Amino acid sequence: MEARLLFLLCVLALGRAAVILNDCHIIQTLHGKLLYDNRVTYMREYFPIDYKLYVKYEEVLRCQNITTLINKGITVKELRYLWGIVNENILQTIQRALPLRHPTRPYIKELQIIFEALLRDTNEEQQVESNQIQEILDRLHQSTDEVKAVTPKALLDNCYKVLYALYEDECALCNPRSDVEDTLCPPETLPELSSHQRTPCKS
Ligand SMILES: *[C@@H]1O[C@H](CO)[C@@H](O)[C@H](O)[C@H]1NC(C)=O
Repeated sequence: MEARLLFLLCVLALGRAAVILNDCHIIQTLHGKLLYDNRVTYMREYFPIDYKLYVKYEEVLRCQNITTLINKGITVKELRYLWGIVNENILQTIQRALPLRHPTRPYIKELQIIFEALLRDTNEEQQVESNQIQEILDRLHQSTDEVKAVTPKALLDNCYKVLYALYEDECALCNPRSDVEDTLCPPETLPELSSHQRTPCKS
């Protein structure tokens, strides 16, 4: 009896490990695509100075939001799902705003494909446990007149920073450049997840 239970637990644990490994593979690819130089080129240099996009308030998901939600007892699993859905939305918003021949389009398309792979096999019912997250997602899906003007780069900066905070340890993400460390969430964003020991990426 005990042996069978143990066996079952092992199978469950292995299944979970496989999911995480696969997710980490996707996350590491995304991390590479979102590195600083790409964000500067595709999200700033290819746009006119002072160019702003209009987005919903719920499309702005910063380090501070994560801290607030963690303090309310939201789990990392839910935060990762929220981050995925919010950014999937943001990418659509950006893509819609771009003219057909804009040089940033292929870049956004690539990111969209990666998010699609990450969110495949997930659904709201399975991932969302708390009312707070459900409410944010509901607002995200509603149309609204309340919009916020943000630079395109700021949107992907948020995407990158929160990705880093949510997956840094589990997916062993390297720290790209110490001189742009200010582009990462402060370590206290997710105290229990942050290793405080960031390994530099090999360039
Ligand atoms: C993040 O916080 C800002 C400011 O409080 C808020 O407007 C926004 O809706 C929050 N984003 C999410 C996804 O909850």
